[in-house]
Amino acid sequence: MAAYVCTRFCINKSKDSIRFIQRRFRVKTKWAATRPKFPATELALHNFDTSYSIQLRDLWPSIRVAMLCEQKYGALINSFSSAPNVINELEAQGCKDFISIDCTRNEVHLSSQDSTTSHRASTELQSSISPDIKCLVFPKGDISRFKPAGPDSSGILGYYLLDAASVLPVLALDVQAGHTVLDLCAAPGGKTLALLQTHSVNYLWANDLSGSRTMRLRRTLQSYLPKEFLDENKIHITSTDGRQLGMTEEKSFDRVLVDVPCTTDRHSAMVEENNIFKRSRTKERQKLPLLQTQLLLDPGHATGWKSCVLYLFPVPAAE
Ligand SMILES: C[S@@+](CC[C@H](N)C(=O)[O-])C[C@H]1O[C@@H](n2cnc3c(N)ncnc32)[C@H](O)[C@@H]1O
Repeated sequence: MAAYVCTRFCINKSKDSIRFIQRRFRVKTKWAATRPKFPATELALHNFDTSYSIQLRDLWPSIRVAMLCEQKYGALINSFSSAPNVINELEAQGCKDFISIDCTRNEVHLSSQDSTTSHRASTELQSSISPDIKCLVFPKGDISRFKPAGPDSSGILGYYLLDAASVLPVLALDVQAGHTVLDLCAAPGGKTLALLQTHSVNYLWANDLSGSRTMRLRRTLQSYLPKEFLDENKIHITSTDGRQLGMTEEKSFDRVLVDVPCTTDRHSAMVEENNIFKRSRTKERQKLPLLQTQLLLDPGHATGWKSCVLYLFPVPAAE
């Protein structure tokens, strides 16, 4: 076991003059330093292989490949922007609205089943998908990059880039006209913006624990919404622990989106920096499932909120 000697100089006060005496310390190497050091990305991938292969079974190999490939973005069209020809220009580059494509595909799939059930299911699906949410993507296998969105005459940007899957929980929330909505973990605001694209939300409360991320959320909304929309009576932004919100506020909501903090799997498998699988962050990572559960359950119990969508990725907790 390796050990090293460290020297330090001290002042000897018993003598008339100040002298420097060299002291020697033997420092034992801590056992933790001898543990094998895996890069955080390797540890993350090992954890994912162990847990997701059980949870996702045959789907895991293709999801694994997708996770290790370059991220593919979708352009969430901002219906508050009057920038001309945004959709036409994206379509001219080969992009398509994946929401309407998937909707049609489901209809086709359903029509091969019993006709009454199929008709009911497809009508329900159609009615739950807001025609106002449009998210354009490049075709399968095409990882072209979107150009940065341009502003309209009032400076409002034409589209917001996000992982297209982020739109799905918003669709599942099935917001109806006049609904009050709480977005409990909202920053940096992709899903908040998608929620507002439905034009059905009467009052939105967007909250996030992190102050700096809440600032980002505010900036996002300022860049994508007309000024009059950012009125406190319509959109309320706070930076509070979501687990305590229900204890202090006696509001009720028609819909609650709980987009819990997660292990950010693609980042964890690809980038060492700020990686939650670093040994120094083991405790934080292992506490995530509890935090996620508390965020989902506690406020709901306190106020009787009507519905929650938990946007939860399975989080491998063991090292
Ligand atoms: C997955 S991200 C949310 C992404 C966001 N919904 C979007 O679409 O842009 C999870 C967020 O939860 C926040 N968070 C973590 N702990 C929280 C807590 N106790 N209460 C509220 N928010 C929390 C994090 O700061 C982070 O911004």
